Amino acid sequence: MKLRTFLVLSGLSFVLFVAVNLISWQLPLAIPQSAAAGKLVWQHHNCISCHTLFGNGGYVGEDLTHIVAKYSSSELVTYLVNPPVMRPNKHTLHPALSEPDAEQLVTYLEYVRTLPTLGWPPQPEKAGDYR
Ligand code: HEC
Repeated sequence: MKLRTFLVLSGLSFVLFVAVNLISWQLPLAIPQSAAAGKLVWQHHNCISCHTLFGNGGYVGEDLTHIVAKYSSSELVTYLVNPPVMRPNKHTLHPALSEPDAEQLVTYLEYVRTLPTLGWPPQPEKAGDYR
């Protein structure tokens, strides 16, 4: 290969490499469709009224930003399909979901877990933990 051809090809590959990287850095990673569907389930049942994500929401229940690290997906689905009766003197009903809704919701929570939060939210995660 002639030196000139070699230089032109290397130059083109470099430009292509930079262009592809610039595009991929600027495009946000699309939320998977099943996770987006799970977010709608989250909204429909107003989970945010009692739970926080990224520290924002209601403080009756736990922050759920990293809940998938505490329970397996199947444990979470089981919990959401058959939630326990809540403690008296607080709210007594926990929303119960259909299995497909619970599965989508857990996919959403798995997606939420992948978002970098730099350790946020800080402890305590529940208002009741405040001393
Ligand atoms: C009316 C308030 C309320 C709503 C609405 C609510 N939750 Fe809860 N949730 C709670 C409370 C309170 C607890 C703690 C129950 C206990 O300790 O017995 C809890 C517990 C949980 C837990 C177990 C947390 C753990 O660390 O053990 C999960 C998971 C959960 N909720 C998910 C959800 C999802 C998903 C939704 C929406 C579909 C939802 N919750 C809606 C109040 C609520």
